[in-house]
Amino acid sequence: MMDDIDRIMEVMDAAFDPRWGEAWTHRQVSDSLAFPHTHYRLIGPDGEPATGRAAGFTLVRAMADEEELLLVAVAPAHRGAGLGRRLLGRVLADARGREASRVFLEMRANNPAERFYRLSGFEPIGRRPAYYHTPGGETIDAITFACDLKQALPAATGISR
Ligand SMILES: CC(C)(COP(=O)(O)OP(=O)(O)OC[C@H]1O[C@@H](n2cnc3c(N)ncnc32)[C@H](O)[C@@H]1OP(=O)(O)O)[C@@H](O)C(=O)NCCC(=O)NCCS
Repeated sequence: MMDDIDRIMEVMDAAFDPRWGEAWTHRQVSDSLAFPHTHYRLIGPDGEPATGRAAGFTLVRAMADEEELLLVAVAPAHRGAGLGRRLLGRVLADARGREASRVFLEMRANNPAERFYRLSGFEPIGRRPAYYHTPGGETIDAITFACDLKQALPAATGISR
């Protein structure tokens, strides 16, 4: 039977382009979930929490009053249907529920998902030069995005203040 880490890994393996080396291994996921402050969400193709195979997932690390979105991914076959947006809304609602004031994330500078994050209320707040090292030996800057949970969030998140 598939456990939740297998469900995460099935999406992971399909979602991340191997060029960038962003996908985590099973070991990295299970090690991170051994920490009590790391949380995950799985979503099914119908947008509800996945009970069978997952279409997408998020992995979040909660710190003092900040949370870091470590990974968000939707399997290619299920993209463009609003599942990513729904997952981000869930991340923000969970973080608010834990009384965090901010959620941040690092994004590879050439990732087209910038628009995706902006639509859910994330804004770029900084850049880390040569933060990522690709398997091909390239270095790529990271852009840090943050979403201030004390502000009203965009309607797209489905969360009202
Ligand atoms: C980024 C990702 C999670 C988006 O998932 P999704 O389910 O397709 O997103 P949604 O359907 O909810 O899209 C929400 C909005 O963001 C936009 N959007 C989504 N992905 C986008 C992309 N790569 N570039 C530009 N806009 C994007 C959509 O057009 C949509 O806007 P609209 O409603 O105005 O059309 C998915 O493409 C993915 O898994 N990518 C690979 C992994 C990755 O790069 N993760 C992020 C870095 S860790």
